[in-house]
Amino acid sequence: MNPELPRLLNRPLTIGDRTLPNRLVLAPMTYLGHVSFRQLLAALGGCGLMFSEMCSAARIPHENRNRSAYFRWRNEEAGRLVIQIVGNDPARMAAAARRIEAEGLFGVDINLGCAVREICKYNQGAALLKSPRDAARMVREVRLAVDCPVFVKFRTGWRDDGRIPVDLARRLEDAGADALTFHPRVAPDVRSRPARWEYIALVKQAVTIPVFGNGDVFDADDCLRMLTTTGCDGVALGRIAIARPWLFAQWTGTDTPQETVYARTAHALADLLQYHFDPQPALRRFKRYGAYFAANFTFGNHLYNQIRNARDLDAIREVLTDFTRSRPQVRRRPNMNLLR
Ligand SMILES: Cc1cc2nc3c(=O)[nH]c(=O)nc-3n(C[C@H](O)[C@H](O)[C@H](O)COP(=O)(O)O)c2cc1C
Repeated sequence: MNPELPRLLNRPLTIGDRTLPNRLVLAPMTYLGHVSFRQLLAALGGCGLMFSEMCSAARIPHENRNRSAYFRWRNEEAGRLVIQIVGNDPARMAAAARRIEAEGLFGVDINLGCAVREICKYNQGAALLKSPRDAARMVREVRLAVDCPVFVKFRTGWRDDGRIPVDLARRLEDAGADALTFHPRVAPDVRSRPARWEYIALVKQAVTIPVFGNGDVFDADDCLRMLTTTGCDGVALGRIAIARPWLFAQWTGTDTPQETVYARTAHALADLLQYHFDPQPALRRFKRYGAYFAANFTFGNHLYNQIRNARDLDAIREVLTDFTRSRPQVRRRPNMNLLR
């Protein structure tokens, strides 16, 4: 690995009135970035900040953190955790942000990027990019409600034109956002075409607040290239963070994992899911993770099918043990067909 990568990543980064120890962060991912996965990631080390799964703003003020599937965290991670909220009502977003701040979490992240139909049909997530003025108004309302850092995660917009995210980024900064995470894809594109990193450079140049680049970073060279070619302040890892969560430690130079890390990580996640969730939700979450784990290996499709068909976590543990005994070959880059 090029020593320039840990050097660039390990520079502290100030956001609002707080400082991150490094610039490599976990992107928000529904059903994958849950409390169990984050505990695993914290144990592996190297992650500067973690974004939660997307949470409905309307529900947050009434959610019980001990029972909620998604608005749940360990006290130890509160100072490193940003809760992502989704919604379309500025007052509700502000109320959710107030609860997040009152809980002592690091900050709040406003979702302007989710393009799935169930979210967009309620004019939430990426749908708000169609009306930059409304999007900025929502950010302003949240800004006025809290002192903690306010992040916004957004996409290019609904047309492939670099001027759109530039205009948006300026509006979001003016509205009081403390940092941006930018995923340079148009909203209808569900990762079928490569992310347009050149737009990250445009967004970075347009604002003075920190910008996290996001999209299609799969190995150390990608990460270094994203930092150096776009000038972004940090990198948010999505799918590869799930497939290989030890990369945070590896790329920041805090640990050099051995090949046994694959099996150890999968077993550890099974244990942590069992600890935090009831058996069925735990099993469903492992199965979702299973695609990302299996993507690491040649013949991973076969492994994934076995995981998918497992009836409980014990069966999954058996599958994992048998698979490890077969001395599977690790792919240099994960199989993209499984990283959906
Ligand atoms: C399964 C899955 C769930 C995701 N859920 C969210 C989400 O809840 N909120 C969000 O802002 N982005 C979400 N994303 C988008 C990621 O945060 C990220 O922008 C995208 O995967 C591109 O980064 P990558 O190439 O590093 O994976 C999700 C992506 C995936 C694959």
